Amino acid sequence: MKKELLKSKLKSIFIRYGLSNKHSLTCADALINAELVGATSHGLSRLTMYCDRIKKKVINPKPKIKIKKISQSISHVDANNSIGFVAADIGIKQAIKNAKKTGIGLVGIKNSGHYGLSGYYAEQAVKKNLIVFCFTNAPPAIAPHGAKKSLFGTNPICFGTPTSSKVPFILDTSVSVINRGKIRVAARTGKKIPKGVALDKFGKPTTDAKKALEGVQLPIAEFRGSGLAWMVDILSGVFTGGNHAGRVKDPFDDFSGPQNIGHLFIVIKPNLFVGNYNQRIKENIKRIKRLPKIKGVKEILYPGQSKSRRYKINLKKIINVPIDILEDLKKLDA
Ligand SMILES: NC(=O)c1ccc[n+]([C@@H]2O[C@H](COP(=O)([O-])OP(=O)(O)OC[C@H]3O[C@@H](n4cnc5c(N)ncnc54)[C@H](O)[C@@H]3O)[C@@H](O)[C@H]2O)c1
Repeated sequence: MKKELLKSKLKSIFIRYGLSNKHSLTCADALINAELVGATSHGLSRLTMYCDRIKKKVINPKPKIKIKKISQSISHVDANNSIGFVAADIGIKQAIKNAKKTGIGLVGIKNSGHYGLSGYYAEQAVKKNLIVFCFTNAPPAIAPHGAKKSLFGTNPICFGTPTSSKVPFILDTSVSVINRGKIRVAARTGKKIPKGVALDKFGKPTTDAKKALEGVQLPIAEFRGSGLAWMVDILSGVFTGGNHAGRVKDPFDDFSGPQNIGHLFIVIKPNLFVGNYNQRIKENIKRIKRLPKIKGVKEILYPGQSKSRRYKINLKKIINVPIDILEDLKKLDA
């Protein structure tokens, strides 16, 4: 489907579900971006879920979002159970504004929902020549190291910086071996998941996506990944006033109330300590890329490079909408 047509369909669906014109556009843009960067697990495949949550009144379509100024650098956003895309868009814009004024912008957001890809918000800051960290917590998926039960989300960690080239450095990674969205898509399409990413509910390794969803996902690097997931839960949840310690509701399965997810954005001017950051980052990347490569590797890529390539290629093509999602679009727009 052509990008513009898809955008207007998505916008009209969100408007139908009660969102304002502006917020509907924010949501449509975020979903289309996910498709364009190839993160289909965070794109159209989630549309019905968002709409169901609005219908069941656990996402507020007309939120009264409050931005409390704590200092010139620091703001606290109460998103009033808005859809995560809108809360995050407001939050990152505020963090950018604060950073431009004072050198550093810190924004904590509470009462939000699933916001999709952290990198999407990080890019906004990097495009303004700023360094950025984005954190969000997510529903239980990973068992804390040593525990039998999942509690941490796949809690992505995202860091972005300008590179002095057009392609930003964006490290945007879940702390689970693979992200939960990929397991959900595999469960929906009846595909197997790779070995070593999840255990079933009895603690046995599984490649069955449905069993993995009932069991636990494995963190990256064992106790280190568990520690990182915990850190993100503290920064996004404990610190901001959002839900934490396993209380974020699963957006697909739990409609008993809003998610109250927390996000934390930190945006920093790159020239705080050195006047020639751009030159220094350029040299840093150049030295790393020049290293001898292992067999089969043509180029050492920095995080965000392959995504940027995929985006450019996909931008020239129509967006491939699978039949089941076309059906969803029809139903939601009816
Ligand atoms: N909102 C949520 O609750 C939530 C939860 C989990 C994940 N997510 C999102 O899901 C998305 C996907 O997460 P993921 O863990 O599957 O990411 P991924 O495994 O696809 O990529 C992780 C990082 O590795 C980099 N990378 C990939 N290949 C590389 C290579 N060959 N060389 C160098 N770097 C390379 C990527 O640029 C990226 O920064 C992210 O955008 C994340 O924010 C969201």
